[in-house]
Amino acid sequence: MSMNLVTLLYLIASVCFIQSLKGLSHPTTSIRGNVFGMTGMAIAAFTTAALIVKLAGSATGLGWVLLGLVVGGGFGAWKAKTVEMTKMPELVAFFHSMIGLAAVAIAAAAAYEPWAFQITAKGGAIPGGNRIELALGAFIGAVTFTGSVIAWGKLSGKSKFRLFQGAPVVFKGQHALNAVLGLAAAFFVFGFWHSQSQMDFWIVIALGLVLGVTLIIPIGGADMPVVVSMLNSYSGWAAAGIGFSLNNSMLIIAGSLVGSSGAILSYIMCKAMNRSFFNVILGGFGGDAATAASGGGVQRNVKSGSADDAAFVMGNAETVIIVPGYGLAVARAQHAVKELAAKLTEKGVTVKYAIHPVAGRMPGHMNVLLAEAEVPYDQVFEMEDINAEFAQADVAIILGANDVVNPAAHVKGSPIYGMPILEAYKAKTIIVNKRSMAAGYAGLDNELFYMDKTMMVFGDAKKVVEDMLKAVE
Ligand code: TAP
Repeated sequence: MSMNLVTLLYLIASVCFIQSLKGLSHPTTSIRGNVFGMTGMAIAAFTTAALIVKLAGSATGLGWVLLGLVVGGGFGAWKAKTVEMTKMPELVAFFHSMIGLAAVAIAAAAAYEPWAFQITAKGGAIPGGNRIELALGAFIGAVTFTGSVIAWGKLSGKSKFRLFQGAPVVFKGQHALNAVLGLAAAFFVFGFWHSQSQMDFWIVIALGLVLGVTLIIPIGGADMPVVVSMLNSYSGWAAAGIGFSLNNSMLIIAGSLVGSSGAILSYIMCKAMNRSFFNVILGGFGGDAATAASGGGVQRNVKSGSADDAAFVMGNAETVIIVPGYGLAVARAQHAVKELAAKLTEKGVTVKYAIHPVAGRMPGHMNVLLAEAEVPYDQVFEMEDINAEFAQADVAIILGANDVVNPAAHVKGSPIYGMPILEAYKAKTIIVNKRSMAAGYAGLDNELFYMDKTMMVFGDAKKVVEDMLKAVE
């Protein structure tokens, strides 16, 4: 395969990746986006395998690449097929950690045997620019690796280790420690650039591994989604950095796309939660939310009703807005909800779905869930498009959502103060389904549940919605 053909195929793969990102930006085009992504990745992997054979002058080593593809690809395919939708964010965090580790491993291999990567002639010194790229790529990869491992632990919340639990770990001098670690890493990157000392290179990696832990442990509560997309961005930049050293345009382009799209997603989520990027990265803020006492332990009365009562109210309404949340995903109630909405529409009720950008546990979680149940896209509205309609709506029915409708976001001093919410509290009647009075992800009590116009319908979302459907029928 000629180098011209390699460049052309890499260019085609890059165009596929860009088309993939474009397609993934809307539910109606997301399948096409995925097909583009898979095609681009297949072309890139095939071309890289051919490039290895060309550079090595034989097929030696290709076996290892194929083994990696089979083992890694097989594990990824199995995981993607079997993972529950609610466990998706931790899987994504795990994948990011693997990208970080891969970046460290490639940088280390290139630093040890640069001639094998055609960076130098055998025994020659690595050019200064490449040294910086390798050290930076390895550093960012190391931060991504341990940071993502901590994020994975926090999101799964299963481990007995305090570090791996959702709550933030905060101590005095934390930010100063991070600054010292960052500066020390810069010093040793300089050292590696200056003398190509292997010791400096490993110290940079060690500092990156520690910094990954200290950066992520203070972050908790509602800020985790931003962290996951931020680590996604880091993993892209690490790959792009290594791509420069290896002179591999595919790695540079794909890494930059991941890096920039992750950064943009982090920005969008920060905006959705009304947090500044630095406020999140410096950590400890989500912690206020996560540790805030739920209702201060005081028992308060709420109005509760049955699924039949709720069905009666909705059946007599003109407009119903459905607010799905994390609990709906846990209960896998999306198909039942779609049927309920269809039945209400048949009866002449106008039904709309309101989606908050951080509802659930991953970006686009609710869109994916509703798409899975084939809910018509024209019934699904983003927060900024539907918020003005709540005041006119007869009923807002909140299914397994909590933080995203919590009016505490309007109360100064609240840990979620300033976070834009779905303004369901403005609807004429509010129906809330959840299993208990337990708090949501941010650990806060929700005044909406205690309003006079609110009816709580306790129970698992799937069972409750199915009962509502029977009653409407
Ligand atoms: P949450 O605030 O997490 O509330 C979910 C509610 O669902 C809980 O109060 C829970 O109450 C209820 N629930 C759980 N299982 C249920 C079931 N089987 N049936 C009925 N209800 C059930 O959810 P949200 O409003 O979607 O907000 C998302 C939160 O997660 C935000 O704070 C967001 O920042 C954070 N977060 C988001 C992401 C992304 S990217 N979307 C990632 C990580 C974290 P009961 O236990 O009483 O039933």
